[in-house]
Amino acid sequence: MSLATRNSVASIELSQATAGAMAKMALLALTLLSQTAQAEPYVWQLPQGMQPPAVPADNPMSTAKISLGRRLFFDIRLSGPGYMACATCHKPELAFTDGRKVAIGVTGQLHTRNTPTLANVAYLARFGWAQPKSEPLGAVDS
Ligand code: HEC
Repeated sequence: MSLATRNSVASIELSQATAGAMAKMALLALTLLSQTAQAEPYVWQLPQGMQPPAVPADNPMSTAKISLGRRLFFDIRLSGPGYMACATCHKPELAFTDGRKVAIGVTGQLHTRNTPTLANVAYLARFGWAQPKSEPLGAVDS
């Protein structure tokens, strides 16, 4: 198999693994959030002059969601083989990157790109700079 083919297979497998992890995370989040009685509103702590990111009116931020998101971000059980979390690649101590030239997926295969920082991603209308025509994230596309 050529390097280009192997890289695109690795890319697809990484995408599938990440999509699988995100699906599991979304299900877990829904289950846990539906068990949360009254959610406390979240108070943004932003540098002076920065506006909070857009938030859908029917899905407001809450301290429970922030806390759940933080836990899920570090939970290795969300990966297929059970040893990789979002934070394995998006390391907080490395500005949410992994410091590598290209990311390594759960199967050990190399991605074609490096792990981008997640700083300020809440302000992005779309995730995935390489797919500029991807569907925008609804409420934040205005
Ligand atoms: C194996 C390493 C790895 C893991 C694990 C991983 N990511 Fe990523 N992440 C990447 C790479 C590589 C990209 C860039 C993909 C591309 O450009 O094709 C990316 C892109 C992103 C982006 C888009 C950033 C932008 O600027 O568009 C977000 C958001 C993101 N990841 C969040 C997550 C979350 C949440 C998890 C856990 C569910 C996660 N990632 C798990 C490597 C990883």
